[in-house]
Amino acid sequence: MSIRTLDDLLAEGVSGRRVLVRADLNVPLDKQTGDITDDGRIRAVLPTLSALVRAGAKVVVCSHLGRPKGAPDPQFSLRPVAGRLGELLGAPVHFASDTVGDSARSTVEGLADGQVALLENLRFNKGETSKDDAERGGFADQLAAFGDAYVDDAFGAVHRKHASVYDVPARLPQVAGRLVLREVEVLSRLTGEPERPYVVVLGGSKVSDKLAVIEALLPKVDRLLIGGGMCFTFLKAQGHEVGSSLLEEEMVETCGNLLQRSPGKIMLPVDVVAADAFAPDAAHDTVPADGIPSHRVGLDIGPETVAGFAAALSQAKTVFWNGPMGVFEMAAFANGTRGVAEAIAKADAFSVVGGGDSAAAVRALGLDETAFSHISTGGGASLEYLEGKTLPGIAALED
Ligand code: 3PG
Ligand code: MG
Repeated sequence: MSIRTLDDLLAEGVSGRRVLVRADLNVPLDKQTGDITDDGRIRAVLPTLSALVRAGAKVVVCSHLGRPKGAPDPQFSLRPVAGRLGELLGAPVHFASDTVGDSARSTVEGLADGQVALLENLRFNKGETSKDDAERGGFADQLAAFGDAYVDDAFGAVHRKHASVYDVPARLPQVAGRLVLREVEVLSRLTGEPERPYVVVLGGSKVSDKLAVIEALLPKVDRLLIGGGMCFTFLKAQGHEVGSSLLEEEMVETCGNLLQRSPGKIMLPVDVVAADAFAPDAAHDTVPADGIPSHRVGLDIGPETVAGFAAALSQAKTVFWNGPMGVFEMAAFANGTRGVAEAIAKADAFSVVGGGDSAAAVRALGLDETAFSHISTGGGASLEYLEGKTLPGIAALED
């Protein structure tokens, strides 16, 4: 497999050329104020953008944000992202109020060498996510017209067969950006011959979302630690009552099989923080994992569990973590996620944090990002990579 890189493109010279960059600027926004609550994904793409700016390219950035339904929807506008990107780059970013229409055309035409434009949300256009090849292709033609070359730096979206990820690179000379390269380099260390013990921590709400990655990882890891909402379906499979905690009835049998298949490998919580209600101020106690009262809902792993997980992590040489251990957005239920994150940070290991919620948790809890070897910008993408799936966005970069 051969993938050309940003350095190859820079070596050709990009001064005065239009370079279309697919970024993943899908950042979380505050529901009330619309403010960006975590700009990690914007910062992650700066190395690629700055290199292009320094080399004198006309940089045209495109991205999705949220899941609008193929038509403009103001709550998903990238305009606030253009502002933040400009602050971080130290130069204004020209914002186009549509993706491939009049505003986009005149914005791109008006760019001077070394300037940056951001197009409005790709998903305001039906063609971006269409399952119909011709419809996607038509949109890809319009996008490709804005570039003389294409850089994919949207690691978080490489698992999507979307026009900007999959079809545009077939229409332009294509290279991988710095972020995509780094992500693939790191994750390939986890699928190759990881140094042992290799410990994986999984959380988040649903087992069904993680089943494929559990199946793929179980034979490879030394320890699989399970917390978050998904732990209750495993606890149920062990015969425990879980009160009104999250439960996927139809997955109980599958979880039982996973536990049986790998005796001793999967570590489950031994205690949980159980609350009267799903609310920040709900009354709550720590209870044994096999004694959750029927009217209570488990919202975090308990301190004894954190200590057990931390002990396993302290031995690890390789760690991958995806998914919070509890409802970390509520202070009362953040201790599990914080404790596990701190244990990973302390471990003398190659440590990778999967994207999405766990990356946001690291920053929201004010932990030192540099204590981890790598914080991925891709949630779904990093999981699908570890599952061994072919990722459309990576396949499209190959020659
Ligand atoms: C993500 O947030 O995981 C990526 O930006 C992809 O977004 P999507 O799941 O809406 O395709
Ligand atoms: Mg190409």
